[in-house]
Amino acid sequence: MPNTSVMLSGIELSNPLIPASGTFGFGHEFTGLYDINVLGSIALKGTTREPRIGNPLPRIAECESGMINSVGLQNPGVHAVIDEELPKLAQVFHKPAIANISGFSVEDYAYCAALFDNDPRIGWLEINVSCPNVSHGGMSFGTDPASAAAVTRAVRAVAKKPVFIKLTPNVTDIASIARACADAGADGISLINTLLGMRIDLKKRAPVIANKMGGFSGRAILPVALRMVWQVYEAVDIPIIGMGGVSCAEDVIEMMLAGATAVQVGAENLVNPWACPQIIAALPGAMAKYGIDNLSDITGGAHHG
Ligand code: FUM
Repeated sequence: MPNTSVMLSGIELSNPLIPASGTFGFGHEFTGLYDINVLGSIALKGTTREPRIGNPLPRIAECESGMINSVGLQNPGVHAVIDEELPKLAQVFHKPAIANISGFSVEDYAYCAALFDNDPRIGWLEINVSCPNVSHGGMSFGTDPASAAAVTRAVRAVAKKPVFIKLTPNVTDIASIARACADAGADGISLINTLLGMRIDLKKRAPVIANKMGGFSGRAILPVALRMVWQVYEAVDIPIIGMGGVSCAEDVIEMMLAGATAVQVGAENLVNPWACPQIIAALPGAMAKYGIDNLSDITGGAHHG
């Protein structure tokens, strides 16, 4: 039987599959559909210091092979997540989860990170410097190496748990941002978040999304994600969680060969809520087809010097 387990910063995952933040709520919402303990872990909905109602509607635009969202970090705030959402998750999920943290200042990130770092239900901190849907903070921290490093350093200073920085693809030099985060103390890099995009309503002659633009995700972005995971793997020596357009077991293998240690599935959960367990079930067969005994052996396996 092929071995699907991987190690992510010292914590073993039974398989590398993790639903991506923003596509899986706080996890417990999916328990009516399947046993979520089949998942490697869960990346929780992006959490901010204060509760947020998010952006005005419409926030979603459908596209060929993908979608655009402009949710605007709707969430109940870090205290409600810890006091209300995590206890519900702990009743049904018996593995460490990934806290995904967004902020509007360096202090915001550190505040939330310190709280999640103290929570035994959290295994890793994923620091989102890549949300394209807020007018300040979010992605603006992730498009400049110095700002990304400042957030990393502030979180590193308050956290003992592994810190992954989630990067935006909306930059010209992803390697320099990843290197700045690694040099500032990041334990790993998550990428890619969504690509900034838009649609126009032909009848209204106006943008479909109230906020005009949003983040494009879905199957269409897989080649961009693979390219950036590849570049970051060549630039840093810390683990990568790869994501962007993953929809089947073969995509997981491709992402790992590009350099990922674990793989998140995002928009596909919105198309097919059973996507993650179906991909997990298909992994052993795909591994056998490509002669892989241990999935953990293939990370970066497409790089040949
Ligand atoms: O708008 C949102 O909540 C999306 C967040 C993200 O892409 O990081």
